[in-house]
Amino acid sequence: MQYRLLGRSGLAVSELCLGTMTFGNTTSEADSIAMIHSFMEQGGNFLDTANVYVQGRSEEVVGKAIKDRRSEVVLASKARFMTGDHPNSGGVSRKHIMDAIDASLRRLNTDYIDLYQVHVWDHATPIEETLRALDDLVTSGKARYIGCSNFFAWQLMKSLAVSDRDRYVRFISIQPQYSLVSREMDREMLSLCQEENVGIIPWAPLGGGFLTGRYNRDVPTSGRLTAKQGESSWTLRASDNNFNVLEVVKQTAMELDRTPAQVALKWLLQREGITSPIFGASTLEQFDENMGAIGWQMPKEAWNRLDEVSALPSEYPNRFIAKFARPF
Ligand SMILES: NC(=O)c1ccc[n+]([C@@H]2O[C@H](COP(=O)([O-])OP(=O)(O)OC[C@H]3O[C@@H](n4cnc5c(N)ncnc54)[C@H](OP(=O)(O)O)[C@@H]3O)[C@@H](O)[C@H]2O)c1
Repeated sequence: MQYRLLGRSGLAVSELCLGTMTFGNTTSEADSIAMIHSFMEQGGNFLDTANVYVQGRSEEVVGKAIKDRRSEVVLASKARFMTGDHPNSGGVSRKHIMDAIDASLRRLNTDYIDLYQVHVWDHATPIEETLRALDDLVTSGKARYIGCSNFFAWQLMKSLAVSDRDRYVRFISIQPQYSLVSREMDREMLSLCQEENVGIIPWAPLGGGFLTGRYNRDVPTSGRLTAKQGESSWTLRASDNNFNVLEVVKQTAMELDRTPAQVALKWLLQREGITSPIFGASTLEQFDENMGAIGWQMPKEAWNRLDEVSALPSEYPNRFIAKFARPF
């Protein structure tokens, strides 16, 4: 396992982050704990959860698994989505952030969260209020670093500028959806993060399972993608373009004697600017397969082929800017 610093910080995280969204639900508590322990035995130190995963069960299971090894772990959680019926039971107001972190700390059975993330932008709350509250959490020791997720580039840039202006701690990372079948972040986010040294920890690196090769052009009979809603629904994933990408993933896997899941993760691991993909595994078998993404190098030619087939179409203003690039 290799380690990377997360954005503009001294926090060392493993090159893979283990996502825990299914823990305590489709992944039993016993399997979830076994998975976390196996991940740590193989050098993994970075775990991602959220207050809303399985209505808080995911945090409880993670808390049990790391109870005796807390300081070894870089524990990431999030707040923003609704957790109750009253109007302040969601969002990132000062009130909700203070309530949400205390509830997460109780479920996680710990007194600090290493990376506390805003799950998605909140149009209702001034970003100054959110950043001041997050800065107070860091000062109090309840959170050690802060990050964000599912932001537009302008929202991240505005947040960084407010932090710098008001001398609050900055977001050190962003957690966007990013994979061979979801490259929207190539438009503006990746270059912003490189410019500002913000770590990128992509979610759904396997397209929710699409890139593992288990689905065909026919409607699948089992697996998460049969869900009708969500980013990893069959409706959104099963496009002609995505199946063309999948063909190249499968062919590359055959050539390299790896599996499609390992190839899809490896493309991200070798992508400049990506710190640590957050992969999910519903079973221990899937986990073992996905961990096979580390410890080898994908040849440049194979990486380029995957990059080309999955690239966004050439768009303005990138097209225009590239045309007039200076040769320095
Ligand atoms: N910030 C956000 O808004 C946000 C949103 C979503 C997720 N996340 C984070 O990102 C993590 C990963 O997200 P994700 O679960 O959508 O990502 P993913 O890694 O793209 O998909 C994981 C799913 O794919 C299937 N799968 C995984 N490995 C497989 C293999 N080797 N063979 C066959 N199927 C395999 C399993 O689904 P089946 O159950 O169908 O087998 C598994 O649950 C989450 O746990 C969470 O921590 C964050």
